[in-house]
Amino acid sequence: MKRALLVMGNQILPNEMAELEKHFDVIHLWKEKGPETVLQERRNDIVAIASAYYMPVSKTLIEALPNLEIISQFAVGTDNIDLAAAKARGIAVTNTPDVLTDDTADIALSLLLALSRRICESDMFVRVDKWRLNSAMPLGRTLKGKTAGIVGMGRIGQAIAKRCEAFGLKIVYNGKRKKEGVTYRFEPDLQKMAEESDYLILSCPGGAETRHMVHAPILEALGPEGYLINVSRGSVVHEEDLVNALVEKKIAGAGLDVYAIEPNVPEPLIKMDNVVLLPHVGSATIETRGIMGGLVVSNLLAHFRGDPLLTPVQ
Ligand code: 8YV
Repeated sequence: MKRALLVMGNQILPNEMAELEKHFDVIHLWKEKGPETVLQERRNDIVAIASAYYMPVSKTLIEALPNLEIISQFAVGTDNIDLAAAKARGIAVTNTPDVLTDDTADIALSLLLALSRRICESDMFVRVDKWRLNSAMPLGRTLKGKTAGIVGMGRIGQAIAKRCEAFGLKIVYNGKRKKEGVTYRFEPDLQKMAEESDYLILSCPGGAETRHMVHAPILEALGPEGYLINVSRGSVVHEEDLVNALVEKKIAGAGLDVYAIEPNVPEPLIKMDNVVLLPHVGSATIETRGIMGGLVVSNLLAHFRGDPLLTPVQ
């Protein structure tokens, strides 16, 4: 008999899903009309979860599944999982690091370029025929010589820094501590770093430690010529403060791939020209999503074969 696997989200691509279905009795929670009833009925069977960043794997859920052995997350970020509750029960947790680093860094740079060179506005300018009507397209901002302040110099932060350097930007970073082996300048004070940054780029993990780290004083420090770019988690930014800072023109603009409560984007942002809004697409390429799904499958199979996990969360 196949083991029961609870699949929480809908982002695993068909090939990898077929692989999961070959090996497991898959419960597609996201398809269920009555997910609570299904969980109640199958709670003793479920031994594994394939989780998604936007679905909480809470202590309550973990405790409701007495035979749960492994949580295999389809994401690098694990802030949706109660890791302490999993650890207390000896439940293994895996994620998908490295494989999405470059794509996510590309999205950060796409936002930076789109904001500075007014790409979305320019596109609209052509489409609504303003160009032919002789209107003046507002000028953008040059990148060369500007400063990118990166919050979180992990794998993704480093990939962003490398790309920023190629565009002639100076790099400074902030995080919990100075990173071994990283030669960029470390600034332990986020407010100070925001002051000297033209682009404040967030690539740190989400969760309690970074919650609302970017709030009104940090945005004021970034200043009326500064841009905020967020490819980490919406929770890192105090969203109401961000909206106010944009309304009051305390910052120049924002490029966002993530939001406090996805998929809800604050209404005032929708109407702003100096804001670029993406629907959480950091890792959203056919190639990367396939590799991420492959890792979810491989970690689950390794666990039940008794082999070492490929990418355990420590
Ligand atoms: C999502 C992400 O995983 O990896 C992360 O932490 O936020 C994204 O790559 C992706 O959108 C799939 O849900």
